[in-house]
Amino acid sequence: MTTTTASEIHSDLQAFLRKSPHKLLIGGQWLPAASGKTFEAYDPATGEAIARVAEAAAEDVDRAVKAARAALDGPWAKMSPAERERVLHRAADLIEKHAEELAQLESLNNGKTIREAKSGDLPLSVALFRYYGGWPTKIHGETVPVSVPYYPGAKFLHYTVREPVGVVGAIIPWNFPLLMAVERLAPALACGNAVVLKPAEQTPLSALRLGELLLEAGLPEGVVNVVPGFGETAGAALAAHPDVDKITFTGSTEVGRKIIQASAGNIKKVSLELGGKSPNIVFADADLEAAAKGMFMGIFYNQGQTCSAGSRVFVERSKFEELVHALAERAKTVRQGPGLDPRTQMGPLVSEEQKRRVLGYIEAGKKEGAKLLAGGESGAGKGYFVKPTVFSEVKDGMKIAQEEIFGPVVSVMPFDSVDEVVSRANGTPYGLVAGLWTKDIKKAHQLSQRIKAGVVWINCYQFVDAAAPWGGYKQSGYGREKGQYAVDLYTQLKSVWVDLN
Ligand code: NAI
Ligand code: MG
Repeated sequence: MTTTTASEIHSDLQAFLRKSPHKLLIGGQWLPAASGKTFEAYDPATGEAIARVAEAAAEDVDRAVKAARAALDGPWAKMSPAERERVLHRAADLIEKHAEELAQLESLNNGKTIREAKSGDLPLSVALFRYYGGWPTKIHGETVPVSVPYYPGAKFLHYTVREPVGVVGAIIPWNFPLLMAVERLAPALACGNAVVLKPAEQTPLSALRLGELLLEAGLPEGVVNVVPGFGETAGAALAAHPDVDKITFTGSTEVGRKIIQASAGNIKKVSLELGGKSPNIVFADADLEAAAKGMFMGIFYNQGQTCSAGSRVFVERSKFEELVHALAERAKTVRQGPGLDPRTQMGPLVSEEQKRRVLGYIEAGKKEGAKLLAGGESGAGKGYFVKPTVFSEVKDGMKIAQEEIFGPVVSVMPFDSVDEVVSRANGTPYGLVAGLWTKDIKKAHQLSQRIKAGVVWINCYQFVDAAAPWGGYKQSGYGREKGQYAVDLYTQLKSVWVDLN
């Protein structure tokens, strides 16, 4: 048990952690890995182990896929849409009931602050199960008025049916471990699919706890299988498995490419939510106080480990000095510590590897001539802390202005005209989100049309909802999760003809 926490560890969480070594969830059973191997789950605030977890590899993934297929063809298919709704609503209720425990687990294994886990990850997870809990009885086809030119006067009944895609492999990252799992499971289950979930190796624990809660909610065995393991082994085996119908992936663009390649074997459906290098654009006529908060939150939420991080801030020149210095001063006052300590404002990064990667970008920024205004080094202690870092004098072509850093590092740059900022904002291979701050409503809407991004926030930043579609342009991926759009992702359409002649 970690010693870094100032708050009490919930007794249910203590009981869960005592189950170490944690097993895989396959076909409703908790099983060790076929190899017998386990790996360590650790607290990134200290680097110390908190549990051991069975390490899935190809053989386990294969068992999980078979279990999912059996469930899909068996009890799950027989369950009515109304019954499916009740299971999803019970899942929402159970997550809500265990919110405190799950928030602590998330904070302990990921490093995020308990405040963010409680105000963001947990309520959103509940909301996703509630939102998709309403869908099963509302997913339906249509009748289509067909005319057949080579059969004049003929009458047909034509209708469409939405059917599940089948076995869905969900490969998710470590930045919002529970939320990412729920964001895939809720719509996939609402649409009647069975799922093999591979959580990230850094953060396997909340997915396993979620697996327990889903069984308690009455989900039939095998409908959700949880197989923690490493990307190159478990992840790759799932992505390439010939009996998986669809992969939903969130993570790096580099691995996204591998997922596409692996899908070619059996022509899997694929949806990808990849990296970002998102612009957050502040005009001089904005509510500057709100914009300053949006700049700060946009980059430093979740230690900067969000695909939607506003990592390139563009400020209209007349307000540049004022805002960049305000951001740097605020960054210097951030209290870093273990996520579980309620006084902590920023936790550690998720891993040693991520810390090294982020520090590497900071070095690159310095070397290329950017000016460091705050942070720029690791934080105190054994954990994977990096101080919130603000760079100015950044050129668009620099590594820190082009590549996703996925840490608390922001580049703040001045701009002079709308055309200039549009072209610079669009000047990376990514297109996930963008923020715009202005009181000029015409300018805001004109700009939102010219920005190549899947999500545009006007006078706000980092807002998400179960009903609002989420996904990227360009190399930030394809497909839209959340909302009714995920129903398209997790169903396939059948066209049925009936001869009435
Ligand atoms: P990653 O893309 O390697 O890992 C994400 C998930 O993919 C994990 O579950 C991992 O086990 C799995 N995976 C890795 N290699 C795989 C393979 N060959 N086949 C199938 N699955 C595989 O991301 P990583 O290494 O944790 O972070 C690297 C960078 O990726 C970050 O610095 C960040 O820039 C980006 N990233 C973006 C995320 C987003 O939300 N868009 C989330 C996590 C990382
Ligand atoms: Mg990786």
